Amino acid sequence: MSESIYAELRERISSLKSKGVTPGLAVVLVGDDPASEVYVRMKGKKCEELGMHSVTVAMPGDATQADLLKKIGELNGDGSIHGFLVQLPLPPHIDEKTVINAIDPKKDVDCFHPVNVGKMLIGEPEFLPATPAGVQQMLVRSGVETKGKHVVVVGRSNIVGKPMAAMMMQKGDGADSTVTVVHSRTRDLPSVTRLADILIVAMGKANFVTADMVKEGAVVIDVGTNRVDDPGSPKGSKLVGDVDFEVVKGKASAISPVPGGVGPMTICMLMANAVSAAERAAGTR
Ligand code: GUN
Repeated sequence: MSESIYAELRERISSLKSKGVTPGLAVVLVGDDPASEVYVRMKGKKCEELGMHSVTVAMPGDATQADLLKKIGELNGDGSIHGFLVQLPLPPHIDEKTVINAIDPKKDVDCFHPVNVGKMLIGEPEFLPATPAGVQQMLVRSGVETKGKHVVVVGRSNIVGKPMAAMMMQKGDGADSTVTVVHSRTRDLPSVTRLADILIVAMGKANFVTADMVKEGAVVIDVGTNRVDDPGSPKGSKLVGDVDFEVVKGKASAISPVPGGVGPMTICMLMANAVSAAERAAGTR
């Protein structure tokens, strides 16, 4: 699924390079959260595979907020870096909002800056947030009709649930949906998820969605990544989604697996944002 998008990105990158511009993406990691380290490594590796300029900034877990803001200021002013992100979560002594607000919106490839969130909401996006954009591309490239369909989004996070809902209700291809958002405080949540033609689950709870919560023939997209104990595996743990895949797959007309479904699409859309940022900086977009 992501390969066709990467093929398009490679063409855009080579066109930029022919004009003397190499798209540059920087990823800032503060501390040594193991999951974050894995994500940051994957992002850097993909950048290099695509022939982009890749910078990883690793800061110690006791770096101060001022240290981080100074680094962000440098990246904002660095002409070789077209986009960058600060990997979340941050250590508790650093304020996430202050950090996100310090990023130049033109380089905010995560689409977390309030200016970019606002632009996305009114249908004039500078960037689209990578995970919801990845979900939308999965739907489009799998030929799933979204126009007029009832999309139920499970979860209301700023990273996935809220932007996902906003994107699916926009006018246009891959959207035009009727959207309902359900969350931990929703009364009788299964009665709502059962109405979904397309069920997008980003709740952060392992195997939260069971067969009784899904309409026969629904399309189910699982955004969850939960590490659970698995005594049988060499690592002693495994990655599972928010959907109980084995029971729901018999009911869904299509279902995305974890790992391997949304995750690779997220990285792909992040790369797409970095290339778009470089194109805008180069004046070719
Ligand atoms: N942590 C988990 N997901 C993300 C993401 O999409 N961007 C950043 N910066 N941190 C994350």
